[in-house]
Amino acid sequence: MKRRDFAHLLGLGLLAGSLPVAIAACQAEPAAEADPAADADGFVPIGTVADLDAEGFLANRNLQGNNLVVIRDPSAPDTVLALSAVCTHSGCTVPWDREQGLFACPCHGGRFNPDGTVNSGPPPRPLATFAARVDGDQVLVRV
Ligand code: FES
Repeated sequence: MKRRDFAHLLGLGLLAGSLPVAIAACQAEPAAEADPAADADGFVPIGTVADLDAEGFLANRNLQGNNLVVIRDPSAPDTVLALSAVCTHSGCTVPWDREQGLFACPCHGGRFNPDGTVNSGPPPRPLATFAARVDGDQVLVRV
């Protein structure tokens, strides 16, 4: 083999060897940007306890791309529950019905219990849940 042919093959080998790395780099997901308001554990304040108690819920339609609602846990009122407000049937926004103590979907009558489990109707799965807590006068959620 001539020296020139060897160098050509070596170059092709290096190129072929680095191709998977180059492809993987192009396919890598961009790193999720941390919310600048998040604490060290990733919890983000979404409202005050006073607002939660006045309204009966706190809603945030775009917390890092999530449409969610926070309520006091009826079985443990000192704690809070954070749930996706997106119905698992067809994706309608599901508001909290304080009088009924349920999430009531306006689209096809689906009902969810406060913990997100399906109470009745067509939804096939529970509402997604998120970690939530109260810190002083702030309600915090981690998504
Ligand atoms: S979208 Fe909620 S019950 Fe159909």
